[in-house]
Amino acid sequence: MQRLIPVLNNDHVPLHLISVINTLMTAAKEISHRLHQGSLAGTLGSTLDENIQGETQKKLDVVSNQLIKNMLLETNLVRAVASEEEDDIVEGNPDAKYLVAYDPLDGSSNIDVNGSVGTIFSIMEVPDHCKHGKDMFLQTGDEQVAAGYILYGPSSMLVMTTGKGVRMYTLDHTVGEFLLTVEQVKIPAQTQEFSINMANDRFWSAPMKQYIKDLLQGEEGPRGKRFNMRWNAAMVSDVHRVLCRGGIFTYPADCREADKPCKLRLLYEANPMSFLIEQAGGRASTGYERIMSLQPTEIHQRVAVMMGSADEVGTCLQYHKDIP
Ligand code: AHG
Ligand code: MN
Ligand code: MN
Ligand code: MN
Repeated sequence: MQRLIPVLNNDHVPLHLISVINTLMTAAKEISHRLHQGSLAGTLGSTLDENIQGETQKKLDVVSNQLIKNMLLETNLVRAVASEEEDDIVEGNPDAKYLVAYDPLDGSSNIDVNGSVGTIFSIMEVPDHCKHGKDMFLQTGDEQVAAGYILYGPSSMLVMTTGKGVRMYTLDHTVGEFLLTVEQVKIPAQTQEFSINMANDRFWSAPMKQYIKDLLQGEEGPRGKRFNMRWNAAMVSDVHRVLCRGGIFTYPADCREADKPCKLRLLYEANPMSFLIEQAGGRASTGYERIMSLQPTEIHQRVAVMMGSADEVGTCLQYHKDIP
């Protein structure tokens, strides 16, 4: 089986970008090890701190963030990083060309119950028009040069794209290498699986309420077929299932908090996952706009997300067109 670096070389990925990706993998191997130690590593549970998102930080949120940030900045290849767990960007080498936005530990509410979690990353280049500060990161998802995630499940898997399709790699712990295990990921256009947190249904918009209601009516309803609901409460594993066998994953806007109607973050959750989904033949939308076309206005900006099997996402978007 092929190792990660030869595969990237064959794809003519620039050497410095390969180094940045390889550094992320080194951090991921360390995170994977600590996660698989579980409570033996003494890093389960929460801290007393709150991050800028207003979430209580898990110890492993903080540990994973530090690991990734320090390793990336030590390479001297990274101009700056933006992290879910950092209030502001953290500057690196002023002459470097790569920007890395990342969610060090996605689904961290699952840690203390031994559920799947992951690391999500999005790599862009410093734009010609802006060489300083957080505005460097305010680029559309179409500007990403690489994106992916490491899913720390029963096996640790890297799923990544550099714009030439999506490949999956599995971590071989004996040699400490990510080995190519799926050459080309393709999402089926149709599906009978949907992924949503049903506990929020009273907060959804009218189109989303009607779309889900029709799904739940099964063979007797307007969709004429049975749908199954899945929810891992970790975007990284819910999206992984969609990439493996199709489906629609959605975290819609809700009306609870006017200033924060959405849950998922654009720069280090929605954009990297949208890049993967589109490269695998799927669609990724807010319900009204293609996610990777959005012009960000701040680094922790949140968006509504519906992504996955192209035909099913299209049906969901039709509800958003037809219902005010
Ligand atoms: P994070 O753990 O990085 O803060 O992300 C959690 C996100 C995402 O992974 C998941 O889909 C969603 O939050 C789950 O939200 P609920 O707990 O509200 O269902
Ligand atoms: Mn969080
Ligand atoms: Mn997350
Ligand atoms: Mn997180």
